[in-house]
Amino acid sequence: MDLYEYQARDLFEKYEVPVLAGIIADTPEEAKAAAEKLGGVVVVKAQVKTGGRGKAGGVKVAKTPDEAFEAAQAILGLDIKGHVVKRVMVAAGARIAKEFYFSVLLDRANRSYLSLSSVEGGMEIEELAVERPEALARVEVDPLEGITPEKALEIAKAAKFDDELAPKVADVFVKLYNVYKGEDATLVEVNPLIQSEDGDIIALDGKVSLDENAGFRHPEHEELEDKDAADPLEAKAKQHDLNYVKLDGQVGIIGNGAGLVMSTLDVVAYAGENHGGVKPANFLDIGGGASATVMAAGLDVILGDEQVKSVFVNVFGGITSCVAVAEGIVKALEILGDTATKPLVVRLDGNQVEEGREILAAANHPLVTLAAGMDEGADKAAELANA
Ligand SMILES: Nc1ncnc2c1ncn2[C@@H]1O[C@H](COP(=O)(O)OP(=O)(O)OP(=O)(O)O)[C@@H](O)[C@H]1O
Ligand SMILES: [Mg+2]
Repeated sequence: MDLYEYQARDLFEKYEVPVLAGIIADTPEEAKAAAEKLGGVVVVKAQVKTGGRGKAGGVKVAKTPDEAFEAAQAILGLDIKGHVVKRVMVAAGARIAKEFYFSVLLDRANRSYLSLSSVEGGMEIEELAVERPEALARVEVDPLEGITPEKALEIAKAAKFDDELAPKVADVFVKLYNVYKGEDATLVEVNPLIQSEDGDIIALDGKVSLDENAGFRHPEHEELEDKDAADPLEAKAKQHDLNYVKLDGQVGIIGNGAGLVMSTLDVVAYAGENHGGVKPANFLDIGGGASATVMAAGLDVILGDEQVKSVFVNVFGGITSCVAVAEGIVKALEILGDTATKPLVVRLDGNQVEEGREILAAANHPLVTLAAGMDEGADKAAELANA
């Protein structure tokens, strides 16, 4: 889960990372009041979960509360790379002497953590990495040891901070690592980390991604969730603990096991080419125990997607037998009753496949078509979606 800048700022504060005062505002009036409260020069910043806000006109300096009002008026409603600004943060203005870059992130490929840092901050780091890779220090961080004061100094030296600055930024690197570790983040990025004209090191911008797999350790993270912005179908799926991702197609997909579901998406996309270019509408892995309630919840979510025209249920019975799955489908259709209105193509294979198919054949539900194999099922579902 990605956080907004103001949420990252609050987390930084909790770990004693130096930040400036910031107040969120949803209207120009609130922005004006925030500027009055902060006093002096402020910076009005769009709160959107994408980069490059400055370039898009989403970061404006305001010298007076009235200017803050105007800045907020200009920024609220702005579309930044498809993200419409609904909230701004009014931040105390910093007098910047130098801008730096620091991040620590999960390096999946190397099964390790990685810190990136540079004395050249402010600009887009992707650009810096391409144009002047030598200016970006990449230092591996052992997950078991983390960023100790010694490690932080090593990172600062690698990034070519001078002898005076290195210990100062190193102190902040350690604190930022504490955020990363303490909150189970996969990314903590500060761009820019600045030195003010008074010599203070301050995190002026923050980007934090939290690892949702560690959510059980952080019940407080739930409050950070952006419930309005979440897709309503994904929110509903989450309530039922379903592993669901909405996609932009017409064929709803239900399968068991992430690998099987992924290949089902491929096969349906391929079959769709012969049927008006229909595409899979979602990823949904119902996992091991395909009970009637899980099946009903899954179908309910998928049928709630207006774009969906047909559903392909592709299950390989392993520990869960095809009998349980077939009974699950029949019961799920009973539970859903009249709300189930779209054709279902079912392909079963594996443990007790014959008995499972018999159950579905005997139920003889008008919406259900049985398919013998995966390709045949995908083709049938794509054809029905295109009908
Ligand atoms: N509180 C502040 N006081 C003074 N200047 C600021 C402040 N916040 C940001 N700036 C200036 O605005 C620039 C852009 O701000 P920021 O880094 O927050 O946004 P961005 O980089 O455009 O957005 P993103 O990080 O999402 O790509 C900074 O590099 C800095 O020069
Ligand atoms: Mg930035």
